[in-house]
Amino acid sequence: MRPAPDFIHEFVPGTSDRTLLLLHGTGGNEHDLIPFGKELDPSAALLSPRGKILENGMPRFFRRLAEGVFDLEDLRTRTHELADFVIAAAERYKIDISKIVAVGYSNGANIAASLLLLRPEILRAAILFRAMVPLIPDSMPDLSSVDIWIGAGDHDPIVPPSETQRLVDLLRRAGANVTIRFTNATHGLTDVEVRTAKHWLEELGPLGTRQ
Ligand code: MLT
Repeated sequence: MRPAPDFIHEFVPGTSDRTLLLLHGTGGNEHDLIPFGKELDPSAALLSPRGKILENGMPRFFRRLAEGVFDLEDLRTRTHELADFVIAAAERYKIDISKIVAVGYSNGANIAASLLLLRPEILRAAILFRAMVPLIPDSMPDLSSVDIWIGAGDHDPIVPPSETQRLVDLLRRAGANVTIRFTNATHGLTDVEVRTAKHWLEELGPLGTRQ
């Protein structure tokens, strides 16, 4: 029997049936986004894996060849590995697999976007801070029952507004319900957009089971 896919991770049980899948940025780890997840939704369970790739000692979720240039083969492999980990963790922690919301920042937002495009069954919703188009899928996923909130910085030197727009267009073509918010910011997060994302999550209410 093959062992269940595993990642070093932190799991915090919640009091609702929603789980936030927390995906850190380059150089982060499984602890970084826990306080952030608690702030976004104090009742949700939190599942927070550490990216397995090391770039000069900094954890990431997939390899890149240069800034913004991704190793697409590795990205595909790592996306499936992460999806399989989420399924295994859902069984282990008795998580409702139909109510998982990805919350990703930067490199974590990029692998969350890749999950949406390659393994659309894994996520019911996603909050993506500073995300790019990770890849173009061979066939378009059906994201018609997925809600996505994207937070972008007007002056982000890594993700220009045109790249954010390309991602929004791609996700909308797949049928997703996408909300986009530009903030007067660079690549770093601001309090105001965290509050806006929290409000959006509250408005989403209890998540219906996906069709
Ligand atoms: C990435 O490599 O995913 C993006 O360039 C964001 C980053 O991690 O700097």
